[in-house]
Amino acid sequence: MMLRAERPGDAAAIEAVTVAAFADHPHSNQTEHIIVARLRAENALTLSLVAEEGAGVVGHIAFSPVSIDDGTADWYGLGPVSVAPEAQGKGIGSALIREGLQRLAAAGAKGCVVMGDPEFYKKFGFRNEEDVVFPGCAPQYFLALALSGPMACGNVRYHEAFDC
Ligand SMILES: CC(C)(COP(=O)(O)OP(=O)(O)OC[C@H]1O[C@@H](n2cnc3c(N)ncnc32)[C@H](O)[C@@H]1OP(=O)(O)O)[C@@H](O)C(=O)NCCC(=O)NCCS
Repeated sequence: MMLRAERPGDAAAIEAVTVAAFADHPHSNQTEHIIVARLRAENALTLSLVAEEGAGVVGHIAFSPVSIDDGTADWYGLGPVSVAPEAQGKGIGSALIREGLQRLAAAGAKGCVVMGDPEFYKKFGFRNEEDVVFPGCAPQYFLALALSGPMACGNVRYHEAFDC
């Protein structure tokens, strides 16, 4: 399995993996592939990594800028992250998350937020932070990780691409 940045020509494979990964997800509207496409179209895919196995893409992770109403800059949202159903449970999702966070930090990002299963994301250092709030999301499902500098403080807004 190899991790690499998205390249021109990967979009269809990324879409297929994203659709398949979220097809039966109980908390999904099945719009994640649209979000990824919109982020790409609006140059808001700060980091887009794929996992390749053999000749094919089996996993994908997106990071995009978020704004925080205290004015904290250089924070990003993790997601969507997708692993093809037949490739799940082999460490690919974890590898994408670790590699993505490492690359974000190396590029100067100050922090990252994620919405999802707290038990899964705590493995990567994310924590529930009472001052980092995503309005409308139950606090236990919203987590933050400072990559450098202080923890952010305020309400978080994702890119408009997520409004679908
Ligand atoms: C979530 C997802 C990206 C994880 O990728 P993966 O390659 O299957 O995950 P890994 O093999 O790296 O799993 C790492 C660990 O997390 C656990 N895990 C995986 N998905 C989990 C979940 N949704 N909730 C809690 N734990 C989870 C695994 O059991 C494994 O535990 P272990 O290390 O103790 O064995 C993948 O399952 C997926 O695409 N799911 C559908 C889409 C989705 O839910 N995306 C995230 C939305 S927030």
